[in-house]
Amino acid sequence: MNLIISGTNRLGSNSLKVAKYYQQELVKQGENWDLLSLTELPPDILCTDLYGKRSANFAPIQAKISASKKIIFIIPEYNGSYPGVLKTFVDACTFPSSFHHKKAILVGISSGKYGNIRGIDHFTGVCNYMRMHVLPLKLHIPIIQDELDENNDFYNPNTLKFIHEQIAEIIAF
Ligand SMILES: Cc1cc2nc3c(=O)[nH]c(=O)nc-3n(C[C@H](O)[C@H](O)[C@H](O)COP(=O)(O)O)c2cc1C
Repeated sequence: MNLIISGTNRLGSNSLKVAKYYQQELVKQGENWDLLSLTELPPDILCTDLYGKRSANFAPIQAKISASKKIIFIIPEYNGSYPGVLKTFVDACTFPSSFHHKKAILVGISSGKYGNIRGIDHFTGVCNYMRMHVLPLKLHIPIIQDELDENNDFYNPNTLKFIHEQIAEIIAF
């Protein structure tokens, strides 16, 4: 099954809300996508799952990655780039088979004005290194706190237009 990754382990994150929104919209289009929040990572991942180690807690997460062919990354802007926990997660996954020649779709979000433009560029470089095919249509959603309604749905017509355009491309990708 394909996979949507919420790229932070911050509790109550907007990234997870956006990931759930994408999942819900894909279901409406008849697509079934799994969801992985980085809050699910083993808290001691630095000791248990780097440099060839593999814990029982990480094994089901690795299985989700291994089973996926397309991966949507929802990536918040942290200090002008993507979160360190996302890189730690990527480094913990089995190399190279986890991401090799798979398809990546990137969505940047931020509370500031830039929608993680730089972090998405940085993460594109990582995806390219891992030989992923990155969907050229990458979304940047700034001021995310003003974009979601009380049900955590997007409502701004301009944002919706871009999200629906991207979802159509994700399905065709
Ligand atoms: C450690 C940290 C660093 C952040 N750095 C930035 C930043 O450089 N630019 C920005 O616009 N927002 C920054 N933010 C705010 C996030 O963009 C904001 O929390 C947004 O909701 C997306 O992240 P979330 O998924 O954690 O909610 C930062 C947040 C955290 C926790």
